[in-house]
Amino acid sequence: MISTIPTQATTANTENEATTVMPGRPYLHYDPNEFANSFSKQPFLIDHALCEHPLFQMERLLELAGTLPPCQIEYNAGKLPVSISHEQTPQNGLSPAETIRRIADCESWLVLKYVEKNAAYHQILDDCLAQIRPLTENICPGMTKPHAFIFITSPGSITPYHIDPEHNFLLQIQGSKTIRMYDGNDPSILNPLELEHFYCDRGRNLVMQEQNRERCWTYQLNPGQGLHFPVTFPHWVENNEEISISFSITFRTPDLDKRRAIFRTNDRLRKLGFQPTPPGQNRLRDTAYYQAFRAVRKVKSMFSSEQ
Ligand SMILES: [Fe+2]
Repeated sequence: MISTIPTQATTANTENEATTVMPGRPYLHYDPNEFANSFSKQPFLIDHALCEHPLFQMERLLELAGTLPPCQIEYNAGKLPVSISHEQTPQNGLSPAETIRRIADCESWLVLKYVEKNAAYHQILDDCLAQIRPLTENICPGMTKPHAFIFITSPGSITPYHIDPEHNFLLQIQGSKTIRMYDGNDPSILNPLELEHFYCDRGRNLVMQEQNRERCWTYQLNPGQGLHFPVTFPHWVENNEEISISFSITFRTPDLDKRRAIFRTNDRLRKLGFQPTPPGQNRLRDTAYYQAFRAVRKVKSMFSSEQ
């Protein structure tokens, strides 16, 4: 039961040489045993050495934002309830640059997306992923689609309850935030229908069930700390009393494509009146569905390329 998991607000073990924080590269520091045992199964803390890096100082972030197209900047009001749909999320009435300049008092949430398209940020993402790849390949082989995001948020702002599709480490650069994370493998917390909606691109925000609100891991993430988010583990985030800057490093693996395909197939079957079982319960059936999904996708692409 998740409710029995103690609240955690600790750093990784700094007595272990592998976790000792050193300035500069390597940027990430973690306990290899904890990493091997917990990656993709449950959240765990790591340490990082990026807080003083010039690429994450506010003036540099403002400069970066000025170079990004609108589709790479998402922002909105930050004083939000824990449960709210993307469509209902209010805007803040400012430009991205104004939002960043006034982030101390404009009560907003902003993310710079796919910052790895900038060579300097690409290098940092590459360096971080190169460090963890030897371990993740043993667990979820085939690291692909590396992406990085920078979150800049006002004191007290809320990121509503939601799920994400990637393997993720959130590295706290400035300020602190409280993260509440829920077991995405527990169907009483995240049910297969919610996952079908998510994988059919109907939104990532979820409705918090009141009886589940406290059934979570709770972390206060401070500068120099990072947290692993397993794929589609629900979470919501509350900024503490300072401006927060966080760097998110993400990637995907082929098993996630298969998972997405099966949930999308299940959605179609459900619309035809069937009651499909979620992926993971019948390996043969999962493989058959995935092959069928790929065959349909291939036929569709052949027809579309002929037109
Ligand atoms: Fe998230």
